[in-house]
Amino acid sequence: MQFDPKRLAQARHVVVFSGAGVSAQSGIPTFRDALTGLWEHFDPARLATVQAFREDPALVWGWYEWRRQKVLQAQPNPAHLALAELARRVPRLTLITQNVDDLHERAGSPSVLHLHGSLHTPKCFACNRPFKGQLPLPDLPEQGASLEPPRCTGCNGKIRPGVVWFGEPLPQATLKAAFNAAEECDLLLSVGTSGLVQPAARIPQLALQHGACVVHINPQPQACTGAEEYSLKGKAGQLLPELLRQAFA
Ligand code: APR
Repeated sequence: MQFDPKRLAQARHVVVFSGAGVSAQSGIPTFRDALTGLWEHFDPARLATVQAFREDPALVWGWYEWRRQKVLQAQPNPAHLALAELARRVPRLTLITQNVDDLHERAGSPSVLHLHGSLHTPKCFACNRPFKGQLPLPDLPEQGASLEPPRCTGCNGKIRPGVVWFGEPLPQATLKAAFNAAEECDLLLSVGTSGLVQPAARIPQLALQHGACVVHINPQPQACTGAEEYSLKGKAGQLLPELLRQAFA
């Protein structure tokens, strides 16, 4: 059975759960796409862990500053814009993202729950204070170039990216808000995520278990278990605007 886009217009509370695929068409690499994903070329254990930063802070800081550089050079794509438009059309929308870029915000989404932190909120590795300084515009020649991190103005510790690394806990209040929204919503759009990383990946299943309709938007077909679970095969930058056209025409 096909998903009826009109359900988008009838929804009381829509949750959007996004992953790296929603930013792919802005030119931001995903993590696990074959050949182009970041983890295809870089070992997450060497770049996205506390241990990695301890061992080589300049390598880790440089890699994240290169990613921030990519984001600064990128623009929100039609997927981000459609989701910001959707928030203006439905009574209530909760946007939950695993992404650390600010493209949802730059597209006009009013509030974004960042489960895995953000490239734009660096903090001190030693005292955890937010970095108060102004980060220089990164000008890294290529991915993998090292860059010494700035120092904390409070304790002189090294500044680290404000992202959640493997093995670190997710921000608890944000995660709780995300789970609550998933349990309460009547429609959840899961956009551009491989659904492999816990605990974030539980969110669509939570919505399904609490009676919501779940729609996956991904060029890779997603396994659907529930009668109220659909997989729309395609790119978010094309499918989301089309969904809104059909829903609100
Ligand atoms: N539109 C929609 N989906 C897309 C598009 C697109 N244009 N291009 C790729 N995809 C899909 C891929 O098919 C894949 O299923 O986006 C998904 C990206 O999956 P991942 O690279 O695993 O990214 P994500 O699911 O966000 O990873 C979750 O893992 O590495 C950690 O912390 C990191 O937040 C990240 C988490």
